[in-house]
Amino acid sequence: MEGFKASITFQFQLLVVSLCLFTFSSTLEIGETCSSGDKCDSGLICDTCPANGNTRPRCTRIQPISPTSKVKGLPFNRYSWLTTHNSFARSGEKPATGSSILVAPTNQEDTVTSQLNNGVRGLMLDMYDFQNDVWLCHSFAGQCFNATSFQPAINVLREIEKFLGANPEEIVTIFIEDYVKSPQGLSKVFNASGLNKYWFPVSRMPQKGGDWPTVDDMVKQNQRLVVFTSKQSKEASDGIAYQWRYVVENQYGDGGMKPGSCPNRAESPPMDTTTISLILMNYFSTNPNRTAVCSDNSASLISMMNTCHQAAGKRWPNFLAVDFYQRSDGGGAPEAVDVANGHLTCGCNNIAYCKENTTGVCDNPPISPPPPAALESPVQGAGDSGDAHLNGRPAELRWLLGAILGVTLLLRLH
Ligand SMILES: *[C@@H]1O[C@H](CO)[C@@H](O)[C@H](O)[C@H]1NC(C)=O
Ligand SMILES: *[C@@H]1O[C@H](CO)[C@@H](O)[C@H](O)[C@H]1NC(C)=O
Ligand SMILES: *[C@@H]1O[C@H](CO)[C@@H](O)[C@H](O)[C@H]1NC(C)=O
Ligand SMILES: *[C@@H]1O[C@H](CO)[C@@H](O)[C@H](O)[C@H]1NC(C)=O
Repeated sequence: MEGFKASITFQFQLLVVSLCLFTFSSTLEIGETCSSGDKCDSGLICDTCPANGNTRPRCTRIQPISPTSKVKGLPFNRYSWLTTHNSFARSGEKPATGSSILVAPTNQEDTVTSQLNNGVRGLMLDMYDFQNDVWLCHSFAGQCFNATSFQPAINVLREIEKFLGANPEEIVTIFIEDYVKSPQGLSKVFNASGLNKYWFPVSRMPQKGGDWPTVDDMVKQNQRLVVFTSKQSKEASDGIAYQWRYVVENQYGDGGMKPGSCPNRAESPPMDTTTISLILMNYFSTNPNRTAVCSDNSASLISMMNTCHQAAGKRWPNFLAVDFYQRSDGGGAPEAVDVANGHLTCGCNNIAYCKENTTGVCDNPPISPPPPAALESPVQGAGDSGDAHLNGRPAELRWLLGAILGVTLLLRLH
């Protein structure tokens, strides 16, 4: 009788264990086939990329690995940061003027706060004089109109202020496309946003190609906001660094997407100017195209990064600027940033392969064969592990938890 009861209990507990295992593994990893009902792991969304033949909905990355997570305390210019082009130009946004039409093209799909939470650390903001204030607009002829206006700049600057307050070890860089002519217009709006307390002073930026202060130092001094302007005069008038004195940058738009070439944009010194320590790589089309962008943000982005690495005198980009940063066929812009950070911080091909605080020792996990791109029927199960070489751990952890629970139950039985 005792034996029978024990056996029933045992079977019941086995059921609990298997339920646990099932529940624990019910979120999907990168590359796995998903459907709207299936949950991808955090940091992933379920998406397709028909523009390059990937019709199979798969868990797709929207977050890079934190650049400082493996090798800590390096100079700021030894990391690469995911950057959004026209970060404020969000699809579906209505102009804050109340105007019902917005004719400006859009380049992103989520708020700046959401971008920051996903690991975006470079923001490109177009600032204009408008309605007696400074506004974010996606406009033309250096002027903002109702139909090309998004919102007052202070709203987004306050979002950044809130993020920096809540995340005391994070550093954010703003690139201003600057059309502001009102005297001290930018200083006033930065003052009013509360961002001044995080200001990284121009006087600390290296002028002769030297290293930047370390990220640890920037955090310790609470100088965690780096701001560049496209207007040279603002360095003297407002204390805002003139971008192309400190950053080399390749051509933006279609001109920057020709395979095999990475020319500098007109305002920037040549890419291989070694007296300049930071490198910004643009990779987005002149007319943002929400259908084609997932393909642009995939293999061709990494390919251009290799081209620009050569053009910049074998230096990897510190900022990787894209449209619709969440769209790709799997790894996307987050993976490109991980590749740059692998090279920059530890000398490996991906930051995922870095060993903590170590250079030149790479932990290359075996790469599984790539999953089929096209949707097949019957639909593939959750078994194909896609680009899992990047992120096998969460699932292992879940199984480990399940196993530990199982063993604990078995031990209690005896
Ligand atoms: C622009 O929007 C403002 C605020 O809604 C409005 O007062 C103004 O008349 C508009 N201007 C034009 C040219 O439509
Ligand atoms: C910004 O604030 C500082 C003090 O907090 C003040 O000295 C400075 O005049 C302000 N600048 C502008 C343009 O308002
Ligand atoms: C956007 O890209 C898609 C897919 O490559 C293409 O078919 C379409 O013509 C493009 N749209 C525009 C407006 O360029
Ligand atoms: C790596 O370095 C940081 C400080 O720079 C330290 O806090 C951390 O413990 C180190 N990690 C290892 C595994 O040595």
